[in-house]
Amino acid sequence: MKLKIYAGILLWLTVFLTSCAAPESTAVSPTTSPPTAVPSTETTTLGWTNNEIATLKSLWLDSLPDLPPDPSNAYGDNPEAAVLGQQIFFDTRFSSNGRVSCATCHQPDRYFTDGLPLSQGVGQTGRGAPTIVGIAYSPWFFWDGRRDSQWAQALGPMESAVEHGANRTFYAHTLADDPDYRALYEAIFGPLPDLSDRSRFPDSAGPVEDETANAAWEAMSPADRDAINRIFANMGKAIAAYERQIMPGPASFDAYVAALLDGDEAAMQTALTEDEAAGLRLFIGEAKCIRCHNGPLFTNNSFHNAAVPAAEGAALDMGRIKGVQEAVENEFNCLGPYSDAGKDDCAELRYAKVMGQELISAFKVPTLRNVVKTAPYMHAGQFATLAEVLDHYNHAPIPPIGHSDLVPLNLSDGELAQLEAFLHTLSSPLAVNPALLAPPEN
Ligand code: HEC
Ligand code: HEC
Repeated sequence: MKLKIYAGILLWLTVFLTSCAAPESTAVSPTTSPPTAVPSTETTTLGWTNNEIATLKSLWLDSLPDLPPDPSNAYGDNPEAAVLGQQIFFDTRFSSNGRVSCATCHQPDRYFTDGLPLSQGVGQTGRGAPTIVGIAYSPWFFWDGRRDSQWAQALGPMESAVEHGANRTFYAHTLADDPDYRALYEAIFGPLPDLSDRSRFPDSAGPVEDETANAAWEAMSPADRDAINRIFANMGKAIAAYERQIMPGPASFDAYVAALLDGDEAAMQTALTEDEAAGLRLFIGEAKCIRCHNGPLFTNNSFHNAAVPAAEGAALDMGRIKGVQEAVENEFNCLGPYSDAGKDDCAELRYAKVMGQELISAFKVPTLRNVVKTAPYMHAGQFATLAEVLDHYNHAPIPPIGHSDLVPLNLSDGELAQLEAFLHTLSSPLAVNPALLAPPEN
């Protein structure tokens, strides 16, 4: 069983049940969304109904459960693995041109994004870099969810021809040939195999676009490929251990909810201006944002077609319907030989929905915490500003392909400005030791 999912559902259910327990509540369908604000005459506390208060509490950072372990990664909460992962995250030697690291596109001072519509590594990618903050709570990774764990995700950019640009034997050698990395790795994962025979372990080999490296990989014995895969998977597990520590801190919005729950009106007014609070009311009500951006990280961790126009000059992006297929087939998935999970731990993958028109051009719902710092927006940076995003939701255009999950909102310019003002109240410093925001000191 994938604990994190159940924790999420549990939290969600708690919210749902709490709201249903309120005597004034109207019926809310459990299959569509958590309780949204119900316009009614029910009793209010400091301007909010019981239903609304339950909803606000469900968005509050304090409602985020402790991060559950990832059963597929036995090293996910190992502090030494996290140090190794942090080192790799910032080290440009793990790239074909010696100039690209994870931090090239996931920059700590940009909330772990890069400010570009399409990211730039060794070449140009086809999508934009999402943040990695709080991402460990997610059951699926990438905009199309083509990986089912954070460690499997990390291996993707390493082998992408346009991101890090190299291949798995190159990375294994880079690690094994460096005495510091070797010591760190062996202290966690045990002895590295002897990779010195380059006829068995070529400098460059892997299932990648580069034909020479690909042919060299095919020529290796299955046992040697397995040895390399194990090292490569462990690198991913170490990177995930590092990333699991990167969490958002409380924002003005959270201070507002805390004040509301304390019944402290003065503190509420200090936390949010009138316009910001009005924007919050729209967010959970008329603007229906909460249908998808819910829970303390403002994401339902699911996939939706939000009718986003295709990126200029790009082919149609099929999103989740292709991504889920890849996740199911990936050798590093929860059920694969490099996962530490038992079969029963992989329910998320085993029962993943793989067919259905709602998956066509559906993309992962991104977190909205610190959204002010993550422009441009959407999977290929289609919108430069939050105002453009809100204008898009207000009109809910016909999607390039598939079935849109949006409905037109018909909000006034003033209301859109209030919504935007509210989104600004989700900004906050990271809740992490600053030492994690740069390469580790040796
Ligand atoms: C060249 C820029 C680039 C580099 C280098 C890069 N990434 Fe990314 N990252 C991206 C882009 C673009 C996406 C989204 C791609 C997609 O969805 O198809 C992404 C997605 C992710 C995600 C998924 C987030 C989510 O919401 O699901 C994580 C986590 C991540 N990267 C971590 C890493 C790690 C770890 C490394 C280093 C091993 C790395 N990235 C290297 C650009 C980059
Ligand atoms: C039907 C589900 C759904 C609803 C309702 C919804 N969103 Fe989204 N939101 C998404 C998805 C999916 C994406 C990513 C879409 C893409 O890249 O194609 C997204 C992306 C965003 C982004 C871009 C974030 C980033 O980092 O790129 C913002 C901002 C945003 N939504 C705000 C809102 C607001 C405000 C509302 C209410 C007016 C809202 N959303 C309603 C699903 C939804």
